[in-house]
Amino acid sequence: MPTPKPTRLHRRDLTVDVHLDPEWFDRTLRQDVLDGLTSEFKELPPKWFYDDRGSALFDEITRLDEYYPTEAERTILRSRADEIAIATGADTLVELGSGTADKTRVLLDAMSRFGLLECYVPFDVSEGILRASSVELLTEYPGLRIHGVVGDFEHHLADIPTGGTQVIALLGGTIGNFGPISRKALLTDIVSTMHPGDQFLLGTDLVKDPSRLVAAYDDSRGITAEFNKNLLHVLNHRLGADFDPTRFEHVARFDDTDEWMDLRLRSLEDQTVRVADLDLDVHFARGEEMRTEISAKFRRSGVVSELAAVGLTLERWWTDPQGDYALSLSTLR
Ligand code: SAH
Ligand code: TRP
Repeated sequence: MPTPKPTRLHRRDLTVDVHLDPEWFDRTLRQDVLDGLTSEFKELPPKWFYDDRGSALFDEITRLDEYYPTEAERTILRSRADEIAIATGADTLVELGSGTADKTRVLLDAMSRFGLLECYVPFDVSEGILRASSVELLTEYPGLRIHGVVGDFEHHLADIPTGGTQVIALLGGTIGNFGPISRKALLTDIVSTMHPGDQFLLGTDLVKDPSRLVAAYDDSRGITAEFNKNLLHVLNHRLGADFDPTRFEHVARFDDTDEWMDLRLRSLEDQTVRVADLDLDVHFARGEEMRTEISAKFRRSGVVSELAAVGLTLERWWTDPQGDYALSLSTLR
């Protein structure tokens, strides 16, 4: 499938390459929805959560007491950022799924303290949040060059700008949102963007007591439920669907065989939803569930072997004091 020509926009030290034009969104979303809603087990890919409203809701999730991963990762970053900066000596930070780039500042600060920092490359499917966070960072870090990429990291990793010594970061447990097969594909693509001397910084949420996991994905204020249902709003807006979000409920379960959180939307009644732009009627039985996301939880041994399988050697492994979350640094073998 031909990649659309990127639109490139400059503003002083900011370049943003946009690989996701409206035509790409249309084509890819239609295909995903057609595949996902016409199969026996309904399932939709998670990248469609993140329109502007979805990104804002996710940002709220990261501030919930129950959602421990963000603070756990921030704690590790705070205590290890200097070590990361020294160990990598990198002048460029590439961040996949950068979002609001909130925790990123801890790394940028450390790179800057050691006089290394030259360039930040945020990469996200959500253009609004990427632009907003880049503009903020430009004012906070005078002299920093930002080269953003609005893209899908399952398709556009080859479009990451090259140059300098890079740390490629995938934080927030985002790797867990991929199943084992797509995870291997993603890691393989990441490795092929790396040059000798580059390092890979990965954040992974760890297996723990299921009750804490369920609370993290089904918070008492219902923000996560709202985030999950945002997928329905996106389909309504972009594909002229007539989902009534009040006729679905948020379901968050820990699957202890696969060791992942399984997030679904369950139909509260027998109903038929029309997706006008696809000329498609989709039937949901009462109680039928549609999977919207998984969030895999890891163990050290699994991370080591998944990295090794794509040619990466684990150099460092750090957890927060409670052992809830891990950050790892790995290099090309
Ligand atoms: N790194 C941030 C955000 C994690 S949420 C943190 O740690 O809090 C996941 C981020 O990845 C969102 O900003 C979302 O827009 C982005 N994302 C999800 N799927 C993507 C894809 N396929 N390609 C690029 N970005 C994606
Ligand atoms: N990367 C985040 C995670 O797996 C994404 C996330 C957090 C999420 N809460 C969610 C996705 C709720 C869907 C629903 O933790």
